[in-house]
Amino acid sequence: MDDQITKLREMRDQALMGGGAERIEQQHERGKLAARERLGLLLDKDSFQELGALATHHASEFGLDQQRYPGDGVITGFGKINGRRVAVYAQDFTVLGGSFSEVQSHKICRIQDLALESGIPIIGLHDSGGARIQEGVRSLAAYGEVFTRNVMASGVIPQISVMLGPCAGGSVYSPALTDFVIMTRQTSFMFLTGPEVIKTVTGEDVSFRDLGGTLVHNTKSGVAHLAAENENQALELVKLLLSYLPQNGTEDPPPLAPYDPPNRMSEVLNTLVPENEDEPYDMKEVINAVFDENSLFEIHPYYARNAITGFARLDGYSVGVVANQPAFLAGVMDIDSSDKMARFIRICNAFNVPIVTFVDTPGFLPGLEQEHYGVIRHGAKVIYAYCEATVPKISVVVRKAIGGAYIAMSSKQMRTDLAFAWPTAQIAVMGAEGAIRILHRRELQTAADPEQLEQKFIDEYRRKFYNPYVAADVGQIDEIIEPRETRPRLIRALEVLRTKVQQNPPKKHGLMPV
Ligand code: HXC
Repeated sequence: MDDQITKLREMRDQALMGGGAERIEQQHERGKLAARERLGLLLDKDSFQELGALATHHASEFGLDQQRYPGDGVITGFGKINGRRVAVYAQDFTVLGGSFSEVQSHKICRIQDLALESGIPIIGLHDSGGARIQEGVRSLAAYGEVFTRNVMASGVIPQISVMLGPCAGGSVYSPALTDFVIMTRQTSFMFLTGPEVIKTVTGEDVSFRDLGGTLVHNTKSGVAHLAAENENQALELVKLLLSYLPQNGTEDPPPLAPYDPPNRMSEVLNTLVPENEDEPYDMKEVINAVFDENSLFEIHPYYARNAITGFARLDGYSVGVVANQPAFLAGVMDIDSSDKMARFIRICNAFNVPIVTFVDTPGFLPGLEQEHYGVIRHGAKVIYAYCEATVPKISVVVRKAIGGAYIAMSSKQMRTDLAFAWPTAQIAVMGAEGAIRILHRRELQTAADPEQLEQKFIDEYRRKFYNPYVAADVGQIDEIIEPRETRPRLIRALEVLRTKVQQNPPKKHGLMPV
């Protein structure tokens, strides 16, 4: 018996070392942690229960039989984060570059299945060069198994991917199927094919960083939703993110004990919106003044900055915030901001997070490029996502709500429960200049002083339509509120809506424009 225990302990000790001390040292030299060190930082102390620590591959191609390591390059199991159960897997770059094998697939799939059945979030720590080349089509098929489970779990349990190394091929497609992708500034990369292959195929010379670095995916491609300075911060972001989410789509997110007075008025809001309608202001000032102090956690903060999406809290309860950002491109709606908003709205809906929308947008961005790349199709995603969402929805029109964007941004007709507007709101079919040129073209063509006449018409149009009162008069706006009272109004509204029940017609699935 003693011998058997000793043998088990030896094997376990070997598994703890992954690809060996030297390779762990190489990870450290590259500014990366070893897989087990990462799990140690992510999970509550002594909460990790490992499964499959001793599994090894049985392949022999290209000398693989000489390179067998317990665990086969991925650590899988369960643990707790702030006392809440989670499933985790961490790829180990020290073992064959963390490359994805059949055995890795079996281990990850097992964890995915158990997470789905138990209704708990799953977190993947990725550090892998993609399909293990030596295993050929077997490793490709193995990805199919993981992808299937990613999709089956989609909208059922939160799935979070943390990219902690150079991740290629299938190792970026599985994260792309999950809800949140977090990258680290210096050490994580995501690409389908690396710089060398690109050079061969297209002749383009590109660095790892310019091809798939953190900046690229957080600002340009939108593949990543959060950027962290380092691994430690990336893992802290996971914890913060989970605090706003439920364990699964049948539960509500856990509220925090209220720490900010619910009736707190924000006097500053009464003077925040500039008199000059073309002058920008920062919508984050509105959000920060309204929601519980320091509770805004932006998702996609560097992508499509003309929109703001993120989680925040109202009286301790988790809320999804969607807003136009007049401080960036005047808050115009375009292809990327539409994608950003639609995706976030759907995440909130899947995980029972009520949505509060702040509107200040001059409309959809006109232009050849936007039209040709499908602003119609992308903008339709926002409309689709809002209409489909059954969670409590409240909108606040802060300033401009012009044309299609007014309707798209959580208008009352799209099953928004309560629509508020500030007195500064301008709700109109189109901008004054454009409207006047259409309505009074002939008069302007023949006028003795067309500029003066145009200005007269514009002023008249603005007086008539650039306000919230017509919309309130016909019931499109439920209440015009003083900006300073936005917080107590929202808190009271959400209190009422907490028990809202709404269902969509039974269907296999909707056909969201993608
Ligand atoms: C087997 C791999 C591997 C892989 C890396 N290694 N990737 N082994 N299969 N996919 C091994 C290396 O041989 C090396 O072993 C060790 O891991 C570390 O790799 P290095 O190249 O030394 O590290 P680095 O310089 O940091 O470069 C990391 C890398 C690079 C960028 C990931 O290794 C790379 O480009 N790998 C291939 C990436 C790729 O094209 N994958 C796509 C696979 S196809 P030794 O023993 O020498 O230290 C795929 C399709 C799925 O995934 C499609 C699903 C839809």
